[in-house]
Amino acid sequence: EQVPVLTIDGPGGAGKGTISSLMAQTLGWHLLDSGALYRLTAHAAAKHQVALDDEPALARLAEQLDVAFPVENGVSVTLLEGEDVGRAIRTETAGERASQVAALPAVRSALLQRQRDFRQSPGLVADGRDMGTVVFRDAPVKVFLTASAEERARRRHLQLQEAGVDASLSSLLEEIQARDARDTQREVAPLKPADDAITLDTTRLSIPEVVDWMTELLAKKG
Ligand code: C5P
Repeated sequence: EQVPVLTIDGPGGAGKGTISSLMAQTLGWHLLDSGALYRLTAHAAAKHQVALDDEPALARLAEQLDVAFPVENGVSVTLLEGEDVGRAIRTETAGERASQVAALPAVRSALLQRQRDFRQSPGLVADGRDMGTVVFRDAPVKVFLTASAEERARRRHLQLQEAGVDASLSSLLEEIQARDARDTQREVAPLKPADDAITLDTTRLSIPEVVDWMTELLAKKG
């Protein structure tokens, strides 16, 4: 009997991170934030002075990535080579660099097994771009979360404001559109819903509404 997986794919800013972690909590399942692995690879590249177009060297970095996600005082911490890089990998620049390394086929295959290792009993919520199309193609329940680019920029703007970071809405919108373009147009594992995924547009939905919808979907299909 295979361990169940709920895949949640979609563009950046659609609320995948928040929804995935709430779903993992609700279900008592493990959580894979696959974007963090690409962000960590890009971060490790900067740290070890590896150029973002040196595909073999980046693949080696990805393969040997020394990462851990321990929970300390109830919060999940992101450690790269023992150093807390949780904040550093969350910036817009880090996202942009992640999307550059993520376009390299050798990097993607180097991270494949590491992602599949997260599939452990009693279940896994997998958040990313290609969870349903590549990494967990056999997942019984696949969701594709979207929202308009304007709404995603607005949410990101709010998040940054709450964190005390100043950013312009129009430049956030441009960054989101640029990253969407790179993620959907790349040759390997482009961002697209799996044939058997159910798409939910969250533009006009609140977080609890999305969680309720997904919980019902799992009860029906799971
Ligand atoms: O989801 P997040 O914004 O953290 O992802 C950062 C970047 O990593 C994305 O823009 C995308 O290019 C890449 N990514 C990917 N495949 C995944 C998760 C993220 O290509 N499964």
